Amino acid sequence: MAQTTELAPHYWPEGLETDSQGQLLIAGQPASMLAMQHGTPLYVYNAEDAGVRIQDLRSQLPDGVKLHYAVKANPHSQLLRRLAPWLDGMDVASAGELQRALHAGIAGRDISLAGPGKTTTDLQAALNAGSVVGIESFTQLHQAADLARGQGHRVPISIRLNPDFRLKSSGMHMGGGASPFGIDAEEVPELLEEARHLPVYIAGFQIYAGSQNLQAEAIAEAQARSLDLILNVCPGGIIPEFVNLGGGFGIPYFPGDRPLEIAPIAEGLAQLQVRLHERWPETGLVLELGRYLVGESGVYLTRVVDRKVSRGETFLVTDGGMNHHLAASGNLGQVVRRNFPVAVATRLNNQASEVVNIVGPLCTPLDRLASQVHLPHAEPGDLIAIFQSGAYGLTASPVAFLDHPLPAEIVL
Ligand SMILES: Cc1ncc(COP(=O)(O)O)c(C=O)c1O
Repeated sequence: MAQTTELAPHYWPEGLETDSQGQLLIAGQPASMLAMQHGTPLYVYNAEDAGVRIQDLRSQLPDGVKLHYAVKANPHSQLLRRLAPWLDGMDVASAGELQRALHAGIAGRDISLAGPGKTTTDLQAALNAGSVVGIESFTQLHQAADLARGQGHRVPISIRLNPDFRLKSSGMHMGGGASPFGIDAEEVPELLEEARHLPVYIAGFQIYAGSQNLQAEAIAEAQARSLDLILNVCPGGIIPEFVNLGGGFGIPYFPGDRPLEIAPIAEGLAQLQVRLHERWPETGLVLELGRYLVGESGVYLTRVVDRKVSRGETFLVTDGGMNHHLAASGNLGQVVRRNFPVAVATRLNNQASEVVNIVGPLCTPLDRLASQVHLPHAEPGDLIAIFQSGAYGLTASPVAFLDHPLPAEIVL
C-alpha cells in the first residue's frame, strides 16, 4: 500500500480570489481564460499588485529612504515600465539590464551597475548612461578609470564592500568571509587612496549581505553593522551622495514561513538615518530590493498533460517544469527541497483528496514542481498554479534544456 506522508499545509498566499466555478482569478481574470489566450506554460505578473506592494513598503519606511529595484529579480520589460514610476532607481548587473532600466524610463543617474565580472561593454554602457559603476575590485577601478579618461570628467563610482560579517538567517549569503562580491572592507582605504588619482569620484558605498531573509531583526542588525563599517572605512574628505544598505528582504514560500515584518526594520533605519546625517547631512540611504517587491506578484501556470500511478504514487506530469522555473523545482538555492505554494488552479474550491507529485516534462528526476502534496483530484487538461513566482523565475531557469518552447509572460 502506498505510504502517504503527513503533510504540513503549504504556505497559502494571502488574498487568493476564485470565480463561482472555483477557478483561480489573477487580477480578476480566470486562469483558464489566460491559458487559452496565451497558451501554457505561462507566467502571469500582476503589476498593479507589485505597485501596491512598493507603495505600501514606502509608506512604512522613514521619509527619504530610497527604493531601488534589482532588475535581476524579474527583468520583464513591460513589468519594469509599470514599476518605474514607483521607484527611485534600479540596480543592474549587465549592459543588457541597463538598457532595460533606461527603456523603462529610469534616468541613467539613478541606475547602478553591480556584479563581480563587469565586461568593458558593461562598464562603457554604464559610463555612457551616466550611471554609477559599482566597484568590486582594484581591476574594476582601473578599467572604469581607463574608460572614464575618454569622457573628460570624473565619473561616478560606488564602492561595494565585502563586509566582515554575515547576514544571519539568510537564504543566501553574499558577504562575510572570502567572497567574489565587493572589496574586502580592510582593503577599502587603499582603494580609496588609488581612486583619488583617477578620473572618478565616490558617489556612494554599497553593502549587499544576503538574500531571502524573513527575520526583521537580522536584517536590521546587518543594516546597522553595514553603516558602522562604511562610516569606519570612509576617510574624511569624502562625502558620498548615498549609502546603499542592500536588501535581503524575503517572502514566505514554505510551511511555517511568516511574512517579513517591516516595522522593526523601519525603526532601525530611522535611527541609522540620524547617525548617517550626523556625519553627512545630505547623504541618502538606499535599499536595493528584488524578490520582496515582485516575488508575490507572479504565478506560473502549467497544464497537466498526463496522470500516472507508479508503485502507489500518483504523478501529475505538466507541460512546463524546471526548464522554466528552476526555483520551484528546488534547484536554485535550496539545500533541502521544499514545495513552493501550489494549487490546482481549475479546482480551487474542491477539497484536497489525494497526495500527488507534480513533475515537469524533462528527462531528469530533478524536474519536480511538487513532492507529496495534498491537492484536489486533477486530470490532464487541469491547470497547476505555482505561486510566489514573480522573482527569479523564467530568467533564472535553464530554458534551453531539452528545447521545449519558452512560456509566454504576460503583465496584467
Ligand atoms: C547586488 C545585489 N543587489 C540586489 C539583489 C536583489 O536581492 P533580493 O532579490 O534578494 O532582494 C541581489 C541579489 O542577488 C544582488 O546581488
